[in-house]
Amino acid sequence: MSLTMDTLVSLSKRRGFVFQSSEIYGGTGSVWDYGPLGVELKQNIKRLWWRDFVQMRSDMVGIDAAILMHPNVWRASGHVEQFTDPMVDCRECQHRFRADHVDARPWLHFCPATKGNKFEIPAGEACPRCGARRTLCPDCGKGELTTARNFNLMFKTFMGPVEDAAAVTYLRPETAQAMFVNFENVQQSMRLKLPFGIAQAGRSFRNEITPGNFIFRTREFEQMEIEYFVNPHETVEGRPADEFWHDRWIADCMAWFRRYGLSEANLRLREHEPDELAHYAKRTLDIEYRFPIGWSELMGIANRTDYDLKQHAKFSGKTLTYFDEERKEHVVPYVIEPAAGVDRALLAFLAEAYQEEEVRGEKRVVLRFHPELAPVKVAVLPLLKKREEIVRTAHAIRGELAKHWRVVYDDTAAIGRLYRRQDEVGTPYCVTVDVQTVGDSDKGEQGDQRVTIRDRDSMQQARVPLRELVPVFQDLLTGGDWAAVAGRFGAAAAAAAG
Ligand code: GAP
Repeated sequence: MSLTMDTLVSLSKRRGFVFQSSEIYGGTGSVWDYGPLGVELKQNIKRLWWRDFVQMRSDMVGIDAAILMHPNVWRASGHVEQFTDPMVDCRECQHRFRADHVDARPWLHFCPATKGNKFEIPAGEACPRCGARRTLCPDCGKGELTTARNFNLMFKTFMGPVEDAAAVTYLRPETAQAMFVNFENVQQSMRLKLPFGIAQAGRSFRNEITPGNFIFRTREFEQMEIEYFVNPHETVEGRPADEFWHDRWIADCMAWFRRYGLSEANLRLREHEPDELAHYAKRTLDIEYRFPIGWSELMGIANRTDYDLKQHAKFSGKTLTYFDEERKEHVVPYVIEPAAGVDRALLAFLAEAYQEEEVRGEKRVVLRFHPELAPVKVAVLPLLKKREEIVRTAHAIRGELAKHWRVVYDDTAAIGRLYRRQDEVGTPYCVTVDVQTVGDSDKGEQGDQRVTIRDRDSMQQARVPLRELVPVFQDLLTGGDWAAVAGRFGAAAAAAAG
């Protein structure tokens, strides 16, 4: 199966993951809203990243800085001068393109060899009839393109009631700068010793000229960034500290994506060539993922040297240094920056999880999310919604489990259909309450107080006592083995269509 972006866009809308922003007004350009399941998935990604890279580590702390920063931050960082893309406009249809992206799109051609008939030619190719290559606007096929001009990607706004040049400020285009300008506050308030890192997850804004490909490149997105400060005069295992920590962060980030489900075959590292390195970087690697659009950047991990702290020291007039007690010297730390996009991570996890398979002659769409990522952990389903006792018990189970996890109750279809719905949104486990669970009170039966747990991936079922549900899910949802649970509790007797 070759997965297309259209399949993911359609599933995302149908099942409440991602909607086009302001859709009823025709949508806003390349801005997306996360729906009820999308917000759970996104929060899980951010929570796991924070847990693994901040909470679990004694060398990491976090901040949550304001989006609106002092405009001089962006002068010091180089964004006012250099955060630009080359842009060209069509003189006919006025469409605007990134100059370096024009040839990466299919182009319209009125072919002189066929009396001017219109054809769409694949990106980068010549017309097979007349041999011409694209020179005009790829969208209308008629207009000349202007020469390239630099276009700054930052969104401008005004601070305060007066809309003049002095009040201009920017929506942050990256979360990183807040870690640099708060370096001293954080280091001193927390008495941190090098090496240590500051993490932040939050919104960033870029007025991309050619955004697109669903949530891959948008104008408003979220980043999870770490600035890891190291002493450039130290060595670790015989290597300069910055180079050692750069490699360590690359390995840790790769391991993190693998841990939550991205497969080896869909992940790779790409080293930046010297001529594409950002002005501040000594070395940068991208972690690339094989998205439905092909291999593309998932995150970057840069060695930014002491560039940022020195720039902010210069522009602010403050000394942003660290006192090395051992060497009795002030040093400007080097910075290793693992910078990930939340939306791109979500897209990668979604693409990786998506599978279509045939079950008893029918198509089953299943999102095989890692249980810790899954938006809903457990769905509680009554086998018969007309039996009051069954429905009451199912609601009570949902209430109990919801103290720990996101759990839903659904009785709006027959059980086979309910299972398929949960498969399609990646719910790892369903709990089914049936007559055997509650017994028949008319006949004076107690019921066995057991429910059926159904595993999303194997579609196997086990019959588990109600009192064991919380510990069983505590195990299963944190990496516990389904086979062990199935072995311990045995197969379900009253298995409904899996
Ligand atoms: N502080 C460094 C920095 O911002 P970047 O490579 O520009 O580096 C880091 O951005 C990550 O943020 C990217 O790898 C990507 O995952 C995400 N990102 C950047 N621009 C984006 C956009 N327009 N839409 C969605 N995600 C974006």
